[in-house]
Amino acid sequence: MAKDRRVVRVLKGESLFPPPLWMMRQAGRYLPEYRATRERAGGFLDLCYNPDFAVEVTLQPIRRFGFDAAILFSDILVVPHALGRDLAFEEGRGPVMTPIGPDEIGQLSGEKFHVNLSPVYETVRRLRAELPAGTTLLGFCGAPWTLATYMIAGHGTPDQAPARLFAYREPEAFAKLIDLLADYSAEYLVRQIEAGADAVQIFDSWAGVLDEDCFARFCAAPVARIVARVRERFPDVPVIGFPRGAGSLYDGYRATTGVDAVGLDWSVPLSQARRLQRDGAVQGNLDPLRLVAGGAALEEGVDRILAELGDGPLVFNLGHGITPEAPVAHVEAMVRQVREARR
Ligand code: CP3
Repeated sequence: MAKDRRVVRVLKGESLFPPPLWMMRQAGRYLPEYRATRERAGGFLDLCYNPDFAVEVTLQPIRRFGFDAAILFSDILVVPHALGRDLAFEEGRGPVMTPIGPDEIGQLSGEKFHVNLSPVYETVRRLRAELPAGTTLLGFCGAPWTLATYMIAGHGTPDQAPARLFAYREPEAFAKLIDLLADYSAEYLVRQIEAGADAVQIFDSWAGVLDEDCFARFCAAPVARIVARVRERFPDVPVIGFPRGAGSLYDGYRATTGVDAVGLDWSVPLSQARRLQRDGAVQGNLDPLRLVAGGAALEEGVDRILAELGDGPLVFNLGHGITPEAPVAHVEAMVRQVREARR
């Protein structure tokens, strides 16, 4: 039953030790079985939009490591794609889109939004039916700001200068884009929950490049709007917010957005994380490179998080996605260390 899912219990504020764990990007290129399925599927988007493949790769890390949560396999950029923007994933380059101009924002069309995303909902339905009863199923979306950065630049950039400039130079068009993305993202999450997701995570991977004022308006406010809309329909489904790189702005994030749990990147000091834990669950925050290095670097990183945060509501995770270079044996060692931890 849902009430026995340990990740859900922690997200709602319970402290469990050892903490439940999963990894961001747990279905990915570090797994040989993922690489094999991706080869069969053809392109990355074929993986996302084909429920047979998407279910298979979602389940791979669950079978191998028995994580406490499975995260729907998809990508945050399927939302702009479903609104009519083009999208391709190029080998070694990541996502590529045609940059959107201020005059094109009015042309974004949600007419086929849910039809285009119906394979994702089908994937969620099948996953809930196939997963072990105690495994939490997480849905997700990108936060409006992070989606906007890719839509405006057309690809990843180191500092999101194109989107920041767009926000300053075209404030009305930009505000319209953010609002529209917030509304569709909320509906997208609601559909995932209807299909069987137990909790959802909002990825704001580029929250760390904004000044205080822009963070409040473009990161926190639209996430608050999404959370409110999801709550109207599903008051009991936990929402995790992940404003990567937010630094000291993590402090007000739970209160201003209404998220139940806060995902922490690895730069967040554990003393700050402990403070954040007084108001609810935190998730994180092992440096993914400790997982690449293994050995003492990995053990010490895991130990420190368990020692500092293990008394409170904690979902053990990485501070960002696992990288393709991480050896499977190091993931196994991490899982063992967390599972065998004693106070
Ligand atoms: O966590 C999971 O296992 C669920 C699946 C998931 C993917 N992307 C699969 C993926 C999730 C939750 C995402 C989120 C996502 N996608 C974010 C937010 C989190 C983050 O990592 O910051 C962002 C910014 C994207 C956009 C995106 N997708 C980029 C920048 C890239 C290229 C980077 C890379 O690792 O190649 C992707 C591709 C992508 N999304 C891959 C995976 C497994 C690798 C694609 C491949 O198989 O070649």
